[in-house]
Amino acid sequence: MVKNNWWQKTVVYQIYPRSFQDSNGDGIGDIPGIIQRLPYLKELGVQVIWLSPIYQSPNDDNGYDISDYRKVLPEFGTMADMQEMISVAHQLNLKIMMDLVVNHTSDEHEWFQQSQSSINNPYRDYYIWRDPVAGHEPNNWLSDFGGSAWEFDVKTQQYYLHLFSKKQPDLNWENPKLRQEIYDTMSWWLRQGIDGFRMDVINLISKQNGLPNDPDVNANSHGSSMTFVANGPNVHQYLQEMNLKVLSQHDIITVGETPGVTTADAMRYAGFNSNELQMIFQFEHTEIDNSREGLGKWSDERFKLVDLKKILSKWQNDLEGKAWNSLYWNNHDRPRVVSRFGNDSQQYRVLSAKMLATTLHFMQGTPYIYQGEEIGMTNVNWPSISQYRDIDTLNAFDDLVNRQKRVMPEKMMTYVHHSSRDNARTPMQWDNTKNAGFTNGKPWLGVNDNYATINVAQSLTNQKSIFYFYKKLIALRQQMPIITNGHYQILDIDDESVYTYKRITKDSELLIISNFTDQVQTRHYPLNVGANLLLSNYEDDQGDELRPYESKVYFSGI
Ligand code: GLC
Ligand code: CA
Repeated sequence: MVKNNWWQKTVVYQIYPRSFQDSNGDGIGDIPGIIQRLPYLKELGVQVIWLSPIYQSPNDDNGYDISDYRKVLPEFGTMADMQEMISVAHQLNLKIMMDLVVNHTSDEHEWFQQSQSSINNPYRDYYIWRDPVAGHEPNNWLSDFGGSAWEFDVKTQQYYLHLFSKKQPDLNWENPKLRQEIYDTMSWWLRQGIDGFRMDVINLISKQNGLPNDPDVNANSHGSSMTFVANGPNVHQYLQEMNLKVLSQHDIITVGETPGVTTADAMRYAGFNSNELQMIFQFEHTEIDNSREGLGKWSDERFKLVDLKKILSKWQNDLEGKAWNSLYWNNHDRPRVVSRFGNDSQQYRVLSAKMLATTLHFMQGTPYIYQGEEIGMTNVNWPSISQYRDIDTLNAFDDLVNRQKRVMPEKMMTYVHHSSRDNARTPMQWDNTKNAGFTNGKPWLGVNDNYATINVAQSLTNQKSIFYFYKKLIALRQQMPIITNGHYQILDIDDESVYTYKRITKDSELLIISNFTDQVQTRHYPLNVGANLLLSNYEDDQGDELRPYESKVYFSGI
């Protein structure tokens, strides 16, 4: 019998607090709202909640720009609310994983205010300041949100680095004092009773020595320096230090967000013996439909199933026995899974959402569900850019349409519909009352028009809903060790329409077959003697004939 760690058998649910549940009518989700909804998450059966940032922040990037790591943003509530949330969650056996954003702070953080005040200030070295080179930026790096990654400070006549917005200056991890402050903050939160950390862009904390130019930056491209700046020379040293000083002292869950990593990198960040993190979020399958014209995610391409299978299979195979996968389709930065990889038409939304859930949840790793995914929430297609709030979307529109004039506005709107982070950030749809039961006031971001039919109340009254399908998947993971430990084997790597894989242990086997198209597909996969249909998104089984978006799982063995 393999002995697993608890975080290998768990399912995580991500809450984006601003859009989850408003309790006081100001149109902004808050902590008391989350507390009200904890029983709902208990009913779903998840064991861990990942909370996107709730700290003090001017909200240039919705809380990923933190101005005080030890204060709660008043819009979200108070520290007392936070404590109550932790305690109610724990009573329900739910763990809380906090978002740790330490590649950068807000420019309104006390450290940066000090740092910016003069070249000699003791905090100057908490951030990355450089002299101009020939009157220009110190190098050609681009911000992930568009434009240069450098901002000139008139007062002290130097530039500071910001890989994201200019209100998110990058911290200088080479400074040991800064590192210690971060570790102290982490320990402080652990003393408040939290159960883990999701670490924002944690593989960007160490920058290339000498900050060289990125050879691949093409003047017209948009934020391409991200991969170049990732996985810098000291990143493993810093994470091992963090592990030694903080993480290893606690029985917690950790996952690092790591753009631009390979499976070899993953072995170092999250290898079973690497003493760094437990899991990472890799990005490969989320970049599968990126632009062919160098515009990053700003595209309206449809993904190819063969590409998806190759990526997911590589991660399943390469990490087995060596490191642990995180499994996710979407999060607060990605479009809705059913719109992107499935089919959100009225006819196929429910079927394809269940098919996608099955495909992912039978893999090896820890699954992450993003709020609303469990009821099949969809992308929005708002006609005007003025309806969007996400800084990434607004900056990209400005950069590509207005400044570079590379994309026509109408075309850009199709990219926005396809890729904007606001697709995931529209308020949670609780019921069919005004504003989907999210708020009595005016929601900070529009509610998706389809809330009258797609909502939690509706899902809870229908045993055939996507919600109960997720609940089943979560429960199965608890009941069947093969889902955690079975060996993964893909059977149809070149099939453009169907995804079939097995999970195998010494004495049992799962066969998972998913039709990714709206057409009937005929495939023959012989069943083991005594195989039973464990799960399906249709009422009956038609053998080799796979109906649109049909997904089924057979189990054989003991
Ligand atoms: C991560 C977060 C994203 C944020 C960025 C900068 O990618 O998930 O929401 O904008 O880091 O903090
Ligand atoms: Ca509120």
